[in-house]
Amino acid sequence: MEFKNLSLTQDGRVGIIAINRPKALNALNTKVLLELDAVLDELEKNPEVYVIVLTGEGKAFVAGADIEEMKDMTPDEARKFAELGSRVFKKLEIINKPVIAAVNGYALGGGCELAMACDIIIAGEQAKFGQPETGLGITPGFGGTQRLPRIVGTKRAKEIIFTGEIIGAEEAYRIGLVNKVVPPNTSFQAAIEMAKKIASKGQIAVRNAKAAINRGIETDIDGGVAIENQLFALCFANTDQKEGMTAFIEKRKADFKN
Ligand code: HXC
Repeated sequence: MEFKNLSLTQDGRVGIIAINRPKALNALNTKVLLELDAVLDELEKNPEVYVIVLTGEGKAFVAGADIEEMKDMTPDEARKFAELGSRVFKKLEIINKPVIAAVNGYALGGGCELAMACDIIIAGEQAKFGQPETGLGITPGFGGTQRLPRIVGTKRAKEIIFTGEIIGAEEAYRIGLVNKVVPPNTSFQAAIEMAKKIASKGQIAVRNAKAAINRGIETDIDGGVAIENQLFALCFANTDQKEGMTAFIEKRKADFKN
């Protein structure tokens, strides 16, 4: 498929999605969301891509949902827009390969929500995070009230959402919102490096681990461990496990085929 508002490229086993509306700081409108939906379908099916890096062109990651598009929406249109974004973000969250967000600039509102739906966030020192929606007279609408408290705890999430404060990369790291802070303009490179490290591992193991964490976190510990036991056992149904363990015994690097 042809994309107008984002680009899809590949570096080895890493698929790279770059949202490309830099004049509007990559604000998410319906067209961008539909392209994101389509690109995720494409990447999910592509066996050549093991890991995905998501980034934004220019000085922002994503400065939010498109305020111009939302300004005159009726409640019904607003609900549909929120549901569209939430559906796409869920697809991103549960896609069968890890997704790393490389955030070099603003990740605000829907942009922060987009980053939170990724598995891992790498931030450049100048990155800024926040949920400024209350300043526009709205709540977050792409899952921010749900994912932010699950990541940083309810107290800090409520403070961030009620006040609309914008926090820097170091503070985002301190509260556990981002995995890693790297020097300015190096978040993309750092994300690619981490993606390649993940791509060198057994991919069925990586996918099963992602599924176990995502599914287990929403259940009680016994249910979660049962999910893990099942996914662990499934690893023994493919050649990666034999190769990984044989390579260890033979003191060589594993050569995974899946
Ligand atoms: C539409 C946006 C935009 C947005 C920026 N732009 N953010 N357009 N929607 N969310 C546009 C500006 O209008 C401007 O267009 C251009 O991008 C550059 O932005 P500036 O404001 O001139 O840049 P700067 O002075 O550097 O300020 C950067 C900024 C500011 C601090 C990030 O742009 C800003 O506050 N943006 C809005 C952030 C926000 O409130 N996000 C939450 C949105 S609500 P022109 O044409 O003038 O050059 C949301 C809800 C999600 O996300 C859930 C929905 C269901």
